[in-house]
Amino acid sequence: MIVFTERKEIEKHLQGLKDQQFSVGFVPTMGALHQGHLSLVAEALQQNDIAVVSIFVNPTQFDNATDLKNYPRTLKRDTELLASVSNTIIVYAPEVADIYEVETKAERFSFDGLEYEMEGRFREGHFDGVGTIVKRLFEIVKPDNAYFGQKDFQQLAIIKKLVEKHQIPVTIHGCPIHRDSNGLALSSRNERLKPDYKKAAPFIYKTLETAKKQFGTKSAKYVTEWVENAFSNHDLLQLEYFIIADEETLKPVTRKSKTKTYRAFIAVYADDIRLIDNIALN
Ligand code: PAF
Repeated sequence: MIVFTERKEIEKHLQGLKDQQFSVGFVPTMGALHQGHLSLVAEALQQNDIAVVSIFVNPTQFDNATDLKNYPRTLKRDTELLASVSNTIIVYAPEVADIYEVETKAERFSFDGLEYEMEGRFREGHFDGVGTIVKRLFEIVKPDNAYFGQKDFQQLAIIKKLVEKHQIPVTIHGCPIHRDSNGLALSSRNERLKPDYKKAAPFIYKTLETAKKQFGTKSAKYVTEWVENAFSNHDLLQLEYFIIADEETLKPVTRKSKTKTYRAFIAVYADDIRLIDNIALN
């Protein structure tokens, strides 16, 4: 397995492979890899001649300096894990200066309103940061296919929009959420949960499952109030938002329509760790 830290080096290496008509599958990550990431890597390996994984904690997508500082950085373990999957994987693990040459600053994007909902409302500038790094990584890796998890469903929608608006020649694949046996969506942040909070966190998915059942017969308003109430009685978990939205526009649903598909989105604080999850409702 080769680990590149320099943009120019990986560009040169990949160009050589592309000249031989090899297809490239790309999995961008911020490291602290778990089974969810590995499932994306497995897809990339299966559908392409070469799989590239980037490991880079992108400063411009964090709206909170403490969160950025505390984000787990486990490069050695990550590369060992990837090598155990396949030693043909190419890793790009740059320093900040290799990506942001002059200034560590996000570009401004319009994602046709997708950026103002949910995560965009609670994490200012987050999607400008995500757009900046993903566009930059696509310019460097020039993948044929790129793989993202549906846990960050809004991010996935925004990346599809980025590719469409900037006419980037890559196919985006959204892959299913991986969960622990207790239902907790896998996330790099789970590593930082203290034992009591780890025990409590599966309540998030249990609530989503109940919300889904209720949405069959009840209104979005009813279900939202029920979820808010369930969390208001919880000792350890603090609800930031629960929103039932149209899957395409990500706008909160007011009245249900049979022709649309809906998804429930949730963000919860477990102590100082922010967890997000979502569930398809129909
Ligand atoms: O989902 C993530 O891990 C990050 O937001 C991404 C897409 C790697 C960009 O930094």
